[in-house]
Amino acid sequence: MRAVEIRDAFGLDHLAVVERPDPVAGPGEVLLAMRAAALNYRDLLMVRGLYNRRQPLPLIPCSDGVGEVLATGHGVTRVAVGDRVCVTFAQRWIAGRPTKDRIRSTLGGPLDGTLAERMVLSEDGVVAVPEHLSDEEAATLPCAALTAWNALVTEGHLAPGEIVLIQGTGGVSLFALQLAVLAGARAIVISSSDEKLERARALGAEAGINYRETPEWGARVKELTGGVGVDHVLEVGGAETLKQSLQAVRLGGTVSLIGNLSGTTAEVALTSIFMQRVRLQGILVGDRESFEAMNRALAAARLRPIVDRTFRLEEARTAFEYLAEGKAFGKVAIAIATV
Ligand SMILES: NC(=O)c1ccc[n+]([C@@H]2O[C@H](COP(=O)([O-])OP(=O)(O)OC[C@H]3O[C@@H](n4cnc5c(N)ncnc54)[C@H](OP(=O)(O)O)[C@@H]3O)[C@@H](O)[C@H]2O)c1
Repeated sequence: MRAVEIRDAFGLDHLAVVERPDPVAGPGEVLLAMRAAALNYRDLLMVRGLYNRRQPLPLIPCSDGVGEVLATGHGVTRVAVGDRVCVTFAQRWIAGRPTKDRIRSTLGGPLDGTLAERMVLSEDGVVAVPEHLSDEEAATLPCAALTAWNALVTEGHLAPGEIVLIQGTGGVSLFALQLAVLAGARAIVISSSDEKLERARALGAEAGINYRETPEWGARVKELTGGVGVDHVLEVGGAETLKQSLQAVRLGGTVSLIGNLSGTTAEVALTSIFMQRVRLQGILVGDRESFEAMNRALAAARLRPIVDRTFRLEEARTAFEYLAEGKAFGKVAIAIATV
């Protein structure tokens, strides 16, 4: 089979399409013919060696993907040959609280990921895919979509009429926007681009703020909400955005800490957290049970993730470069031809 590897060293120059032996499903395992994968910011960090420098190489990157079950090993009961399934981000996190073992079972590092024509996984590490989705759309669900779902729904208990502040128009953020609209909530989006803000409005955002033109956007969000603030903030910016988020959130509101696009170390006034009784919650993708709950919601609403562009497997490097440019509106996908 063909696969994309980070070969002998980190960096985009060290991504290569390679031949590997076709894997075989053992007892309790499934063999997947991969149909599509999708890129996350984390995958870019992994390729560049900025996620985990001690990650052994070679590594097949990426954790988002969908495939068709080609064969099942002895004793498999959860899926059958011909089923279309998504991989789960953390292979051993089925339900319950995160443990070291569970959160170390992630695809695209430390385990080999989805940029391959074939994968063998435990039958516990896959979920059925909502039928209305294309392969590229389904491929985006395991990491980006589930992270937004857990921030807003599982942990955030988002209710109709609440207001959500969404940072940027990347994979996690646009899915959060779609979920907020689906839940009957109101959404304010910040972006570096007026054109992207227009597109976010077309998806249901009620207001948009250009964070380049208005770097102190926390105060503007307060104004837009009548001085009250928003119920939820989806914090993907990190170092440069947390202070603004704490300004934008209402008394007793929730900030879901998800990403570190602008840096990892932030200095914040702790009083702005406890005096406002803000709930700061760390989000780490999610377990299989939440993935299945999310898929039920997607199927019922026929919601389709936003895919900006699809590349071929041999264009993986170009796809990563495109993600790094920050031009995408939503997800960057990879179509994987199956034989
Ligand atoms: N904790 C978890 O479980 C988890 C899961 C998934 C992702 N993440 C993290 O979440 C972040 C987003 O991931 P992603 O895959 O959605 O990324 P992505 O698709 O590459 O999206 C990045 C977008 O974020 C926006 N952005 C960048 N800098 C910003 C800033 N300073 N303020 C506001 N928005 C900014 C930009 O939107 P505009 O172009 O509109 O400005 C950019 O297009 C990353 O840090 C990633 O590592 C964490």
